[in-house]
Amino acid sequence: WLLMATGRTPTNIAVIKYWGKRDEALILPVNDSISVTLDPDHLSATTTVAVSPSFPSDRMWLNGKEISLLGGRFQSCLREIRKRARDFEDEEKGVKIKKEDWGKLHVHIASYNNFPTAAGLASSAAGLACFVFTLGKLMNVKEDYGELSSIARQGSGSACRSIYGGFVKWCMGEKDDGSDSIAVQLADETHWNDLVIIIAVVSSKQKETSSTSGMRDSVETSPLLQYRAQTVVPSRVLKMEEAIKNRDFESFAKLTCADSNQFHAVCLDTSPPIFYMNDTSHRIISLVEKWNHSEGTPQVAYTFDAGPNAVLIAQNRKTAAHLLQKLLYYFPPQDKDLSSYLVGDKSIL
Ligand code: DP6
Repeated sequence: WLLMATGRTPTNIAVIKYWGKRDEALILPVNDSISVTLDPDHLSATTTVAVSPSFPSDRMWLNGKEISLLGGRFQSCLREIRKRARDFEDEEKGVKIKKEDWGKLHVHIASYNNFPTAAGLASSAAGLACFVFTLGKLMNVKEDYGELSSIARQGSGSACRSIYGGFVKWCMGEKDDGSDSIAVQLADETHWNDLVIIIAVVSSKQKETSSTSGMRDSVETSPLLQYRAQTVVPSRVLKMEEAIKNRDFESFAKLTCADSNQFHAVCLDTSPPIFYMNDTSHRIISLVEKWNHSEGTPQVAYTFDAGPNAVLIAQNRKTAAHLLQKLLYYFPPQDKDLSSYLVGDKSIL
């Protein structure tokens, strides 16, 4: 016999960034973070997990290519889910599994990203969240979403936020065992659905410094990181929660841009310095800043993760269409420097 489950999970974009761990093994952060989960049609991972007594070992394929599970991030999530597996019975198939027997059964995992392959937008967040969720379903795990988020966290920090749609906060927690370092939903996906997210693909190259090693270097060497985590982020998180609750785009945009800029300032403050943004990223920031300034009130927010691609958040479809026009005018696709990829609503293209 063979049991199978499939799930799909979108990636998330942080508007208050997670950067720095206080515990590397458990993946516990130095500050809270807040993100928005994209809708599932774009930038999502689809994962199928199968279990059968005929499988001699655990195996995994990512986008059709087999990858090693040994000592990896998927392995820690697999171990945590196995611990929580429950008795299972499928009368039709005549399958009965006692909770203690799940550990003796091996799994096969096949995961696909629907990210445009040339876009350099690979994200472990969607993949790990999807894996935890789907494996949990297969192994009859009954834990709530908070608990599932803390398992996904042990695969990759940002993955814990993809367990929910809408706006999500990852509470850093205080305990040494990480049991209170979980994600909570601040507002569901219907709460502020006028927002349109455009991702401007600036470079399709793989990033040079991974988030994991970049943030390790920042924790060890950047004095600005300590100040940011202890003094800036706590009050910024409260203001961001308020802005989201009230759909206050002006505050939301100001906080989002400021937090992205401070995160990249921490990268520059790291020794040796880390450069994730390039000249095109800087030109996009100038374009948005000038536009927002000339209108007297923010039209668009920008945020950049550990790479040069711009994530642009427009207040509504009309502004998004206007933004796209500007991007295509200032960064014509023929200069190959930037091609725009629209997430959210294809009709604007
Ligand atoms: C810049 O979650 O990829 O995107 O926990 O080491 O797997 P690990 O790091 P990861 O870091 C994401 C960093 C970020 C900001 C964010 O998503 O909050």
